[in-house]
Amino acid sequence: MHCPALPDGFDFTDPDVLHHRVPLWEFAELRRSEPVRWIPQPPGVAGFDDTGYWAVTRHADVKYVSTHPELFSSSLNTAIIRFNEHIERDVIDAQRLILLNMDPPEHTRVRQIVQRGFTPRSIRALEDRLRSRAEAIVARARTRSGPFDFVTEVACELPLQAIAELIGVPQEDRGKIFDWSNKMIAYDDPEYAITEEVGAQSAAEIIAYAMNMAAGRKRCPARDIVTTLVAAEDEGNLNSDEFGFFVLMLAVAGNETTRNAITHGMHAFLTHPDQWDLFTRERPSTTAEEIVRWATPVNAFQRTATQDTELGGVRIGKGDRVGLFYASANHDPEVFTAPDAFDITRDPNPHLGFGGGGPHYCLGKSLAVLEIDLIFHAIADAMPGLRAADAPRRLRSAWINGVKELRVTLG
Ligand code: HEM
Repeated sequence: MHCPALPDGFDFTDPDVLHHRVPLWEFAELRRSEPVRWIPQPPGVAGFDDTGYWAVTRHADVKYVSTHPELFSSSLNTAIIRFNEHIERDVIDAQRLILLNMDPPEHTRVRQIVQRGFTPRSIRALEDRLRSRAEAIVARARTRSGPFDFVTEVACELPLQAIAELIGVPQEDRGKIFDWSNKMIAYDDPEYAITEEVGAQSAAEIIAYAMNMAAGRKRCPARDIVTTLVAAEDEGNLNSDEFGFFVLMLAVAGNETTRNAITHGMHAFLTHPDQWDLFTRERPSTTAEEIVRWATPVNAFQRTATQDTELGGVRIGKGDRVGLFYASANHDPEVFTAPDAFDITRDPNPHLGFGGGGPHYCLGKSLAVLEIDLIFHAIADAMPGLRAADAPRRLRSAWINGVKELRVTLG
């Protein structure tokens, strides 16, 4: 079927698309006319022999795929890719060690272990320290006399501090963890001049650091997630590669996502002053969820069909890749009233910004919501008159809806 909104060759995973905007019009058109649509890609673009993927744009279909791992596998790589024309098989094999790229029963086994570090109690235990961090970050930004970049001065630090607290990285080592984490992301964007080799080297450094920490915790246990995981390793329930890749995944999954949620949230408030007034007065507890719906920092992940099946009335062949477009699902008018409105009192808000509710549903959701709450409370307390100084500069990425610079000024 011809879709007038999509010119020939249009590909949602082309980094040049997200570089400019989230393709909301195109998503709306597909949801209406062809909610499961084949998007061709030039052969070899994703390192597989296939020639495209199915774009899934309706909320109900994204949920269906996410909650049926027996039909739609994660183990053939969940990152919906185009940026790398020669992704090697051994890279894909290594990525299978990441929780996100596992299928049951491996996924169930590893997830049961690692989620011990994410209990409500362990997240609550971080709250006071993260609140002090958030206040200190905002107090430092408040001393800026002219316009400053909200991303580097405010949004960047709390997500990294939160991961460092969770893992138990000592203060003196945090600088290098921050540096490695930042180098692993965004190498789609030439402005950062980060090569794939530098990204891979940084990943290796994080894994080596994690292994070193594990050896330390074996000698001297502490009350942190590494000690929990080391105990599971000793019981034979988690192997050391799985451990290293899990720490690596935290450094990526919890970093750029939350940073972008905070930045998009700030931008949404700057462009919706009525919502900022409301927030400063009433602080609705529904705010963080609406920021994640509105921002949808992870634009998409993918699955691969394990057998011939059907989705939204379309036949999907075994081995076909299926792109789950969370940003589209989060604007689906079948589910959300006035989906294009930023409404921090929205309730219920069954958005898919943290995933479609299946076994891979975001493990760090409570931590992310806590961080978003803490930073906006701190901003509302200390610099409620923040103003935009320039339009945001967007990240060039295949799958992250990112902002790399948002210049603001104290009102
Ligand atoms: C998985 C989004 C913050 C750790 C995911 C998924 C999404 C997501 C879309 C995939 C869900 C699926 O495939 O069904 C986000 C967003 C965040 C955020 C938007 C911030 C606003 C965090 C944080 C952490 C974290 C702070 C931890 C420090 C993880 C992990 C997984 C995951 C470990 C993999 C779970 C699994 O495969 O079982 N996240 N995330 N995330 N996230 Fe988050």
